[in-house]
Order: sequence, then C-alpha cells, then structure tokens
Amino acid sequence: MNLQTAFTNAYPEYSDTRALDAVRSRDFPLLDALNHVYLDYTAANLVPLSLLERHTALLRDHLLGNPHSTNPASALASTYAAQARLSVLEFLNADPDEYTVVFTANATQALKLVGEAYPFNGDGDYLLTFDNHNSVNGIREFARTKGCRVTYVPVLLPDMRVDADALVSHLTRPSRGGPRLLAYPAQSNFSGAQHPLEWISLAHQHGWDVLLDAAAFIPTNALDLNRCRPDFVSLSFYKVFGYPSGIGCLVARRAALAKLRRPWFAGGTITVASVQGDKFYLAEGESAFEDGTPDYLALPAVIFGLQYVTSIGIETIHRRVACLTGWLLDRLRSLQHANGMTLARIYGPPSTHRRGGTVTFNLYNPDGKPIDHRGVETRANDANLSLRTGCFCNPGGGEIALGITGTELATCFRQPEHETRLTVDDFRLCIDGKSSGAVRVSLGLASNVDDVEAFIRFAETFLG
Ligand SMILES: Cc1ncc(COP(=O)(O)O)c(C=O)c1O
Repeated sequence: MNLQTAFTNAYPEYSDTRALDAVRSRDFPLLDALNHVYLDYTAANLVPLSLLERHTALLRDHLLGNPHSTNPASALASTYAAQARLSVLEFLNADPDEYTVVFTANATQALKLVGEAYPFNGDGDYLLTFDNHNSVNGIREFARTKGCRVTYVPVLLPDMRVDADALVSHLTRPSRGGPRLLAYPAQSNFSGAQHPLEWISLAHQHGWDVLLDAAAFIPTNALDLNRCRPDFVSLSFYKVFGYPSGIGCLVARRAALAKLRRPWFAGGTITVASVQGDKFYLAEGESAFEDGTPDYLALPAVIFGLQYVTSIGIETIHRRVACLTGWLLDRLRSLQHANGMTLARIYGPPSTHRRGGTVTFNLYNPDGKPIDHRGVETRANDANLSLRTGCFCNPGGGEIALGITGTELATCFRQPEHETRLTVDDFRLCIDGKSSGAVRVSLGLASNVDDVEAFIRFAETFLG
C-alpha cells in the first residue's frame, strides 16, 4: 500500500477538509512556490494573502485617526475598535454582558496585566501547572512580591498530562481567606497536551479565579466561554490568523476585571487625572487596562481575521490538524535505525485524544545517544524546513520531558559563578550530557500531508 492510500485509510475524515487545499493555494502560494516546509504554527500562523489585501484596501480607502478623540477619523477608528471587541466575544461565544476584551500587544501583555494587578496577598494562592509558558510563570514574581504562596502542580510522563489528583487536592484545600488564582494553558505549547477545561468550574466551586492561557489552543480549537467560563483568557491573534503580529487580548469576566488593582495609570486609562490635586480616576472596564494609544490601524484586521477563520470553519481546521497530527505521530514513531532502535522519543500524548498539533521530540542515534537539537535545527534550516527547537519558553515542560531534576537545577544555579549569569553552554554542562532542549514540529491551517511527508523524509536522513 502506498503512503497516500495508507493515510487516507487511516484518516478518512481528512477528505472533509479539502476546502483547505484551496485556501492554501489562494492564500499561501509562497509555501509551494518557495518549496518551503513550514512547521512552526505554534509559534505563528502565516499571513493569508486575502486577509492582507482586505486590510490594505481598508487603509487605502478610509481615513482612520487616533481613537482618543471624537473627530470623524477618530470616530471611524473607534467604530472599528468596538466592532473588533464584539467580534472577539462572538468568536468565543462570550456574552458581552458577562465578558469584555482588553486589547494588548500580545498574550504576554495580557498575562502581565493580570499578574501585576491581581490582588495577591499573604493569605492567597497562586497555583499553576509545570506546563506553562514563561509569560504565565512570570506572574509568580508578582505574587511572591506580595507575599503570596506559589504552588506548582507537576505534569507526568510519558503523556505530560497534569497530575490531576495533585491539582484537585490543591484546589479543594481550605482557603486561608486571601484571593486564589489558578493558571494553566488550554493546550501546551510544549507537548500539545490539552488540559481539561472542566477544571475551571471545579476551581470556581472552591473559590478560585481562573486564568486560562489559550494562546496555543485557539488557532485550531473552538473555545466556548459560555460553557467553560474562565475569569481571564490570554491570546495573540497572529497565532490564529497570521496577521497582524502586534495584537493580542485579555478576555475577562467583567466581575473578575473589577477585582484587579492597576499599579499605575496612563494615557487612555483614566477619566480624570490631576497634577495639583494628586489624584486620578480610572476609566470603567476595559478602558482602564488599555495603556496609551491602541494599535487602531490594525484592529480592523482582527475583525477580518476572525471572519476569515470563521468562513473556513474552526472545526474544519481542527479536523485537518488532528488528522495530520495523528499521521505525523504514526510516521515518526515508525522510524527505526537498522539495528531496530527507534529514531524519535516523543514527549506528550501518544494519540490525538485531547491533544493538538504540536509534536515535540528528540532524535537518537543508533547507540541511543540524543542528537543535539541545535544540529537538527541547522539541518532543517538548510533544507528550507521551518521548525523550532529548545524549550519553547516552557521550562517546566522541558524539565519534565528531559528528566532534569530540581536538585540538578538547584546545584547549578547555586554555583557562585552562576549567580547572575548562565549561558546555554554553562547550562548544558550542569545537566551533564542530557538534552537541554527538544525539537518541535507544529501544524496549522495551511498544513497538508505533503508537509508531514517532507518532514518524515528529513527525519529519515538521521537514520543509521
Ligand atoms: C501557550 C502560550 N502562551 C503564551 C504565549 C506568549 O505569546 P506572545 O509571545 O504572543 O505574547 C505563547 C507563545 O508562543 C504560547 O504558546
């Protein structure tokens, strides 16, 4: 049986996603024209030509001004900004009476808004999973500065799912009276594992607020806020539809937003601020959180981008990515050296059940030694194949996957010469020959089976 037939037999529902082949030829012609195998969708989606053209036409045909005014150019920009907010809520099935949208530069800035303003205190808790992007990890520094307890819940090998028993026991322990925040990713940017959204209501029942980092989930999965109701959601739009790269948002329950205490005020966030009176009054709702002038020229592209994804259908994108992920896992697992040793060790869920299109692994020599991920990246670059290596800003995921222990890390960080500076090479010496990173291949709306096969041919060049 040839590969095409094997694929079609294994994943018959791929044929329901044929519309995406037309999308690829129309909107991403450079992929095939440049013979570029793009496998880094967890980092960023690519720019769809039709979205770019629609946005360019809008800027060409309309006068848009700084929305902090009422003049006609401002008013038009404000209209688009308001529409963009509503489009985001509609995309997430969020009730505008319950939720609002704070536009930010990216998901990181959305997370920072929560971190710096959440009312952490000495009686409170910040609970988070090992599996988190650094922009969620970084919130622990705000929490600790306010004397708040910080607790990490581990993920377990081999699937890299969160230790659910440990999580539930933390969620259900008696409150000490202070505010409690749980933060976790809907989908791991390290392993592709999708963590249960059911935890949100459990956390709520025990008095926790929930920050759901949806940055890696939302490009290929429907998120329904009317069903799962997190307090805060962070995301970046370039990951969903590739363009523009400078806008993300914090989607927040209005009641949760009202609990936040901003550490400063800025242009755009106040109704009145006085120099002589030494006083300021924050604006209501989302306005209090949008510092300075928003990227008002780009906001119409958020409307168009969401319409773009909706017109294709998030379910179609999801189905295609699931089929391709399953095939990639099957194919990668089947690669063996002549001596029978497997080439790849994959970190994360073995099947497409509750996992997205992010596949992370290391390659091994026939003698079982890891092949340096940096060398894999160099060879991929030379082959015009875009993938990612390292720990992808997710050190907790990396430490678990690569078997790097807390003791090893403490010994390394405690060395006097490492007090303020640690290079990647120093770090590699500390962990004594273990891999310090992995290779990540990720699929998205323009991916097809040829991309997966091109990657497998590349991986085969490491077989001995
Ligand atoms: C799960 C997750 N959270 C947060 C981020 C941060 O996104 P940004 O760099 O756009 O702020 C990323 C980026 O890769 C991510 O994958």
